[in-house]
Amino acid sequence: MRASIPAGLGHKEAELYSRLDPARFPRHIAIIMDGNGRWAKRRHLPRIAGHRSGVFAVRNTVQCASRIGLPALTLYAFSVENWLRRPKSETSFLMGLLRRYLKIEMSAFQENNVRVQFIGRWRELPQEVQDRMDWAIAETAHNTGLILTFAINYGGRSEIVDAVKAIVNKSRSNGAHFEIDEEKIDQNLYTSHLPELDLLIRTSGEMRLSNFLLWQAAYSEIYVTESLWPDFSGVKLLEAIAEFQKRERRFGGIETVPHSTVHTA
Ligand code: FPP
Repeated sequence: MRASIPAGLGHKEAELYSRLDPARFPRHIAIIMDGNGRWAKRRHLPRIAGHRSGVFAVRNTVQCASRIGLPALTLYAFSVENWLRRPKSETSFLMGLLRRYLKIEMSAFQENNVRVQFIGRWRELPQEVQDRMDWAIAETAHNTGLILTFAINYGGRSEIVDAVKAIVNKSRSNGAHFEIDEEKIDQNLYTSHLPELDLLIRTSGEMRLSNFLLWQAAYSEIYVTESLWPDFSGVKLLEAIAEFQKRERRFGGIETVPHSTVHTA
């Protein structure tokens, strides 16, 4: 069966969408947005020009994701390591860019029914950035479409450490005997509000997870594109979904599991 084309897609997006199988849509896509610096360097521009252009790619990708009815999109914006390994001037620029982005984008979030969330140790960020993030969460809390989650000051290993700490603390406070199993860790990860991760996309050709969604990516399909992040778009997102639909998902077994039966939530 062919999908009916959602309103608002561009010509090329609509063409790609029309070739997709609606029964095999991913429910949760995450993206490692990489290559802003290289994009700028190729143009003899400062690195921050790459980040600024990266915002246009975020906008275009989010718009397409919400129009095609994707339930969840998670974007890796800043890792824990980004803080330590980049010049202070660049991290400050990125913080300012995030604040401006959230403000400017609010009307599009409302128009497209997008709910904004954040994962990571973002409570360690400067207060004015946290305030804007709290504001974006509150303003979009009633929206029921795409859950757009930004990973900010995020690390996959620290997420697992935080989940285990949360389990231990909760158990201590109610004095109960406790066991740690996969389900309990799942429930205490930052991503407990999201469907299983189906597809992990990385731009700029690197074959690494870079400490992103380590637990959640256990059975995800991975798609690496040579495109640098500022060149990514809704069209490229749909190309990645088309590739996802060609893959056979086995979840450790020997038989292919139909895409539509893999989720319990
Ligand atoms: C990786 O490129 C990108 C980042 C560390 C920052 C991500 C930021 C954006 C996509 C733009 C702003 C986003 C929001 C949500 C406001 P890199 O600098 O590591 O590139 P390189 O590997 O080529 O040096």
